[in-house]
Amino acid sequence: MIMTKSVSDKIKEMPMLSVVASRLLELSGDEEHSLQDVAKIVENDAYLTTRILRVVNSAAFAPNSPITTVAKAILNIGEKMVMGIAVGSCSAKVFKDPLDGYEAAAGGLWDHSLRTAIAAREIANYSKREISASLAFTAGLLHDIGKSVISEFLVGNTEMLTDMCDEGKAGDFLDAERTLVGTDHSEVGQQLAVHWGIPQPLVESIRYHHRPEQASEENKHLVYSVHLSDLLAMMGGSGTGADSLAYKIDDNYESFIDIGKDQLAVLLLKVQEEFFGTKKSIFGSEEF
Ligand SMILES: [Fe+2]
Ligand SMILES: [Fe+2]
Repeated sequence: MIMTKSVSDKIKEMPMLSVVASRLLELSGDEEHSLQDVAKIVENDAYLTTRILRVVNSAAFAPNSPITTVAKAILNIGEKMVMGIAVGSCSAKVFKDPLDGYEAAAGGLWDHSLRTAIAAREIANYSKREISASLAFTAGLLHDIGKSVISEFLVGNTEMLTDMCDEGKAGDFLDAERTLVGTDHSEVGQQLAVHWGIPQPLVESIRYHHRPEQASEENKHLVYSVHLSDLLAMMGGSGTGADSLAYKIDDNYESFIDIGKDQLAVLLLKVQEEFFGTKKSIFGSEEF
Protein backbone atom coordinates (compact mmCIF):
# COMPACT_ATOMS: atom_id res chain seq x y z
CA MET A 1 0.00 0.00 0.00
CA ILE A 2 2.99 2.25 0.44
CA MET A 3 3.91 2.45 -3.16
CA THR A 4 1.06 4.29 -4.86
CA LYS A 5 3.09 7.49 -4.87
CA SER A 6 6.04 5.91 -6.64
CA VAL A 7 3.72 4.30 -9.17
CA SER A 8 2.47 7.74 -10.12
CA ASP A 9 6.06 8.99 -10.33
CA LYS A 10 6.85 6.12 -12.66
CA ILE A 11 3.91 7.03 -14.91
CA LYS A 12 5.34 10.51 -15.32
CA GLU A 13 8.71 9.05 -16.24
CA MET A 14 7.29 6.81 -18.98
CA PRO A 15 8.27 7.83 -22.50
CA MET A 16 5.56 9.75 -24.30
CA LEU A 17 4.03 8.44 -27.48
CA SER A 18 5.34 10.17 -30.58
CA VAL A 19 3.17 12.94 -31.97
CA VAL A 20 2.48 10.81 -35.03
CA ALA A 21 1.39 7.80 -32.99
CA SER A 22 -0.93 9.82 -30.80
CA ARG A 23 -2.48 11.57 -33.80
CA LEU A 24 -3.08 8.17 -35.40
CA LEU A 25 -4.65 6.89 -32.18
CA GLU A 26 -6.85 9.93 -32.11
CA LEU A 27 -7.96 9.22 -35.66
CA SER A 28 -8.78 5.60 -34.84
CA GLY A 29 -11.38 6.92 -32.41
CA ASP A 30 -13.01 9.01 -35.12
CA GLU A 31 -15.43 6.92 -37.16
CA GLU A 32 -15.45 9.41 -40.00
CA HIS A 33 -11.76 9.42 -40.81
CA SER A 34 -10.50 8.57 -44.28
CA LEU A 35 -7.47 6.77 -45.55
CA GLN A 36 -6.17 10.10 -46.79
CA ASP A 37 -6.19 11.45 -43.22
CA VAL A 38 -4.01 8.56 -42.09
CA ALA A 39 -1.66 8.93 -45.07
CA LYS A 40 -1.23 12.63 -44.40
CA ILE A 41 -0.09 12.01 -40.83
CA VAL A 42 2.26 9.19 -41.75
CA GLU A 43 3.85 11.17 -44.58
CA ASN A 44 4.95 13.80 -42.11
CA ASP A 45 7.22 11.29 -40.46
CA ALA A 46 10.12 10.18 -42.62
CA TYR A 47 11.11 7.28 -40.38
CA LEU A 48 7.63 5.83 -40.24
CA THR A 49 7.15 6.29 -43.98
CA THR A 50 10.37 4.39 -44.66
CA ARG A 51 9.42 1.57 -42.32
CA ILE A 52 5.97 1.18 -43.82
CA LEU A 53 7.25 1.20 -47.39
CA ARG A 54 9.86 -1.36 -46.44
CA VAL A 55 7.25 -3.65 -44.89
CA VAL A 56 4.81 -3.36 -47.77
CA ASN A 57 7.53 -4.11 -50.33
CA SER A 58 8.97 -6.99 -48.30
CA ALA A 59 8.83 -10.61 -49.37
CA ALA A 60 5.92 -11.21 -47.00
CA PHE A 61 3.59 -8.96 -48.98
CA ALA A 62 5.34 -9.27 -52.36
CA PRO A 63 3.47 -6.64 -54.39
CA ASN A 64 3.39 -7.07 -58.18
CA SER A 65 5.19 -3.78 -58.66
CA PRO A 66 7.02 -1.67 -56.05
CA ILE A 67 4.77 0.46 -53.87
CA THR A 68 6.12 3.95 -53.46
CA THR A 69 3.36 5.97 -51.83
CA VAL A 70 2.04 5.80 -48.29
CA ALA A 71 -1.58 5.85 -49.48
CA LYS A 72 -1.02 2.75 -51.63
CA ALA A 73 0.89 1.10 -48.81
CA ILE A 74 -2.01 1.64 -46.42
CA LEU A 75 -4.41 0.19 -48.95
CA ASN A 76 -2.17 -2.81 -49.27
CA ILE A 77 -1.31 -3.72 -45.68
CA GLY A 78 -4.30 -2.09 -44.00
CA GLU A 79 -4.67 0.77 -41.63
CA LYS A 80 -4.43 -1.46 -38.55
CA MET A 81 -1.01 -2.63 -39.53
CA VAL A 82 0.11 0.96 -39.99
CA MET A 83 -1.17 1.68 -36.50
CA GLY A 84 0.71 -1.30 -35.12
CA ILE A 85 3.96 -0.18 -36.70
CA ALA A 86 3.49 3.42 -35.52
CA VAL A 87 2.68 2.51 -31.93
CA GLY A 88 5.19 -0.31 -31.74
CA SER A 89 8.17 1.52 -33.13
CA CYS A 90 7.83 4.53 -30.89
CA SER A 91 7.04 2.71 -27.67
CA ALA A 92 9.70 0.06 -27.58
CA LYS A 93 10.33 0.72 -23.91
CA VAL A 94 6.72 0.14 -22.98
CA PHE A 95 6.32 -3.09 -24.91
CA LYS A 96 9.78 -4.60 -25.08
CA ASP A 97 11.20 -4.40 -21.56
CA PRO A 98 10.90 -7.63 -19.58
CA LEU A 99 8.04 -7.72 -17.09
CA ASP A 100 9.92 -9.11 -14.13
CA GLY A 101 6.98 -8.75 -11.76
CA TYR A 102 4.90 -11.00 -14.01
CA GLU A 103 7.79 -13.34 -14.69
CA ALA A 104 7.44 -12.56 -18.38
CA ALA A 105 10.43 -12.30 -20.70
CA ALA A 106 11.42 -9.29 -22.78
CA GLY A 107 8.99 -8.89 -25.65
CA GLY A 108 6.30 -10.83 -23.79
CA LEU A 109 4.03 -7.82 -23.50
CA TRP A 110 4.43 -7.05 -27.20
CA ASP A 111 3.55 -10.63 -28.19
CA HIS A 112 0.54 -10.65 -25.94
CA SER A 113 -0.59 -7.18 -27.07
CA LEU A 114 -0.24 -7.94 -30.76
CA ARG A 115 -2.12 -11.22 -30.40
CA THR A 116 -4.89 -9.49 -28.42
CA ALA A 117 -5.07 -6.78 -31.11
CA ILE A 118 -5.48 -9.33 -33.91
CA ALA A 119 -8.12 -11.18 -31.89
CA ALA A 120 -9.98 -7.94 -31.11
CA ARG A 121 -10.14 -7.03 -34.79
CA GLU A 122 -11.74 -10.44 -35.50
CA ILE A 123 -14.08 -10.34 -32.54
CA ALA A 124 -15.25 -6.86 -33.51
CA ASN A 125 -17.08 -8.57 -36.39
CA TYR A 126 -19.29 -10.37 -33.88
CA SER A 127 -20.16 -7.34 -31.78
CA LYS A 128 -23.91 -6.82 -31.43
CA ARG A 129 -23.36 -3.11 -32.01
CA GLU A 130 -21.05 -2.02 -34.79
CA ILE A 131 -17.56 -1.15 -33.64
CA SER A 132 -14.65 -0.06 -35.76
CA ALA A 133 -12.19 -2.88 -36.40
CA SER A 134 -9.39 -0.35 -36.36
CA LEU A 135 -10.38 0.92 -32.93
CA ALA A 136 -10.70 -2.64 -31.60
CA PHE A 137 -7.22 -3.50 -32.90
CA THR A 138 -5.71 -0.47 -31.21
CA ALA A 139 -7.59 -1.14 -27.99
CA GLY A 140 -6.17 -4.67 -27.97
CA LEU A 141 -2.69 -3.35 -28.61
CA LEU A 142 -2.83 -0.99 -25.65
CA HIS A 143 -4.95 -2.84 -23.08
CA ASP A 144 -2.12 -3.98 -20.79
CA ILE A 145 0.19 -0.93 -20.97
CA GLY A 146 -0.19 -0.53 -17.20
CA LYS A 147 1.90 -3.66 -16.74
CA SER A 148 4.99 -1.90 -18.02
CA VAL A 149 4.63 0.57 -15.15
CA ILE A 150 3.56 -1.71 -12.33
CA SER A 151 5.76 -4.72 -13.06
CA GLU A 152 8.77 -3.56 -11.05
CA PHE A 153 6.62 -3.03 -7.96
CA LEU A 154 5.59 -6.69 -8.00
CA VAL A 155 9.09 -8.12 -8.29
CA GLY A 156 9.86 -10.69 -5.63
CA ASN A 157 6.18 -11.18 -4.80
CA THR A 158 4.91 -12.94 -7.91
CA GLU A 159 4.59 -16.32 -6.24
CA MET A 160 2.76 -14.81 -3.31
CA LEU A 161 0.34 -13.13 -5.72
CA THR A 162 -0.44 -16.35 -7.58
CA ASP A 163 -0.82 -18.16 -4.26
CA MET A 164 -3.33 -15.55 -3.16
CA CYS A 165 -5.37 -16.35 -6.28
CA ASP A 166 -5.03 -20.11 -5.84
CA GLU A 167 -6.07 -19.97 -2.21
CA GLY A 168 -9.04 -17.72 -2.95
CA LYS A 169 -7.60 -14.80 -0.95
CA ALA A 170 -7.79 -12.71 -4.11
CA GLY A 171 -10.51 -12.96 -6.76
CA ASP A 172 -7.97 -12.68 -9.55
CA PHE A 173 -4.51 -11.33 -10.25
CA LEU A 174 -5.86 -7.80 -10.46
CA ASP A 175 -7.16 -8.05 -6.88
CA ALA A 176 -3.85 -9.50 -5.77
CA GLU A 177 -1.95 -6.56 -7.34
CA ARG A 178 -4.24 -4.15 -5.55
CA THR A 179 -3.64 -5.83 -2.19
CA LEU A 180 0.11 -5.57 -2.62
CA VAL A 181 0.59 -2.22 -4.35
CA GLY A 182 -2.66 -0.37 -3.65
CA THR A 183 -3.47 -0.16 -7.35
CA ASP A 184 -3.55 -2.52 -10.33
CA HIS A 185 -2.36 -2.59 -13.94
CA SER A 186 -5.74 -1.54 -15.35
CA GLU A 187 -5.92 1.58 -13.18
CA VAL A 188 -2.28 2.43 -13.80
CA GLY A 189 -2.84 1.84 -17.52
CA GLN A 190 -5.72 4.28 -17.44
CA GLN A 191 -3.50 6.90 -15.82
CA LEU A 192 -0.78 6.35 -18.41
CA ALA A 193 -3.38 6.59 -21.18
CA VAL A 194 -4.63 9.90 -19.82
CA HIS A 195 -1.02 11.07 -19.50
CA TRP A 196 -0.58 10.22 -23.19
CA GLY A 197 -3.82 11.99 -24.07
CA ILE A 198 -5.38 9.09 -25.99
CA PRO A 199 -9.11 8.96 -26.84
CA GLN A 200 -11.73 8.01 -24.27
CA PRO A 201 -12.89 4.67 -25.77
CA LEU A 202 -9.28 3.45 -25.57
CA VAL A 203 -8.88 4.77 -22.03
CA GLU A 204 -11.98 2.80 -21.01
CA SER A 205 -10.89 -0.38 -22.71
CA ILE A 206 -7.60 -0.20 -20.81
CA ARG A 207 -9.34 0.59 -17.53
CA TYR A 208 -12.04 -2.07 -17.69
CA HIS A 209 -10.61 -4.92 -19.75
CA HIS A 210 -10.81 -7.22 -16.72
CA ARG A 211 -14.13 -5.77 -15.49
CA PRO A 212 -16.03 -5.03 -18.70
CA GLU A 213 -19.34 -4.71 -16.88
CA GLN A 214 -18.05 -1.47 -15.34
CA ALA A 215 -17.47 0.25 -18.70
CA SER A 216 -19.89 2.97 -19.84
CA GLU A 217 -22.85 1.82 -21.94
CA GLU A 218 -21.35 3.65 -24.87
CA ASN A 219 -18.13 1.64 -24.84
CA LYS A 220 -19.25 -1.72 -23.43
CA HIS A 221 -19.15 -3.54 -26.77
CA LEU A 222 -15.58 -2.44 -27.39
CA VAL A 223 -14.48 -3.30 -23.86
CA TYR A 224 -16.11 -6.76 -23.99
CA SER A 225 -14.33 -7.37 -27.31
CA VAL A 226 -11.00 -6.60 -25.69
CA HIS A 227 -11.88 -8.73 -22.66
CA LEU A 228 -12.61 -11.71 -24.85
CA SER A 229 -9.56 -11.11 -27.06
CA ASP A 230 -7.35 -11.03 -24.00
CA LEU A 231 -8.62 -14.51 -23.17
CA LEU A 232 -8.05 -15.73 -26.73
CA ALA A 233 -4.50 -14.37 -26.66
CA MET A 234 -3.81 -16.29 -23.47
CA MET A 235 -5.42 -19.48 -24.78
CA GLY A 236 -3.16 -19.14 -27.79
CA GLY A 237 -0.14 -19.16 -25.53
CA SER A 238 0.65 -15.47 -25.33
CA GLY A 239 0.04 -14.38 -21.81
CA THR A 240 2.34 -12.21 -19.82
CA GLY A 241 3.33 -14.87 -17.35
CA ALA A 242 2.00 -15.29 -13.87
CA ASP A 243 -1.31 -13.47 -14.23
CA SER A 244 -2.60 -15.64 -17.09
CA LEU A 245 -3.43 -18.52 -14.78
CA ALA A 246 -5.78 -16.42 -12.72
CA TYR A 247 -7.82 -14.94 -15.58
CA LYS A 248 -11.55 -14.70 -15.03
CA ILE A 249 -13.92 -14.50 -17.95
CA ASP A 250 -17.10 -12.44 -17.65
CA ASP A 251 -19.74 -14.88 -18.90
CA ASN A 252 -22.08 -12.03 -19.68
CA TYR A 253 -20.03 -11.34 -22.82
CA GLU A 254 -22.70 -13.04 -24.94
CA SER A 255 -25.01 -10.07 -24.32
CA PHE A 256 -22.55 -7.93 -26.29
CA ILE A 257 -20.65 -10.28 -28.55
CA ASP A 258 -22.59 -12.77 -30.61
CA ILE A 259 -20.12 -15.61 -30.58
CA GLY A 260 -20.48 -19.11 -29.16
CA LYS A 261 -17.77 -21.15 -27.46
CA ASP A 262 -17.32 -23.39 -30.52
CA GLN A 263 -16.84 -20.38 -32.80
CA LEU A 264 -14.28 -19.06 -30.36
CA ALA A 265 -12.20 -22.19 -30.89
CA VAL A 266 -12.26 -21.63 -34.67
CA LEU A 267 -11.31 -18.02 -34.18
CA LEU A 268 -8.44 -19.04 -31.94
CA LEU A 269 -6.85 -20.95 -34.81
CA LYS A 270 -7.31 -18.05 -37.18
CA VAL A 271 -5.74 -15.62 -34.72
CA GLN A 272 -2.82 -18.01 -34.14
CA GLU A 273 -2.04 -18.17 -37.82
CA GLU A 274 -2.30 -14.47 -38.37
CA PHE A 275 -0.24 -13.69 -35.30
CA PHE A 276 2.70 -15.80 -36.41
CA GLY A 277 2.51 -14.43 -39.94
CA THR A 278 2.37 -10.81 -38.79
CA LYS A 279 5.06 -11.21 -36.21
CA LYS A 280 7.43 -12.81 -38.65
CA SER A 281 6.88 -10.38 -41.49
CA ILE A 282 6.69 -7.16 -39.55
CA PHE A 283 7.76 -7.27 -35.97
CA GLY A 284 10.14 -10.19 -36.00
CA SER A 285 13.17 -8.13 -36.84
CA GLU A 286 15.60 -6.85 -34.23
CA GLU A 287 14.66 -3.25 -34.84
CA PHE A 288 11.02 -3.86 -33.82
FE1 LIG B 1 -4.75 -7.17 -18.17
FE1 LIG C 1 -3.92 -8.91 -21.31
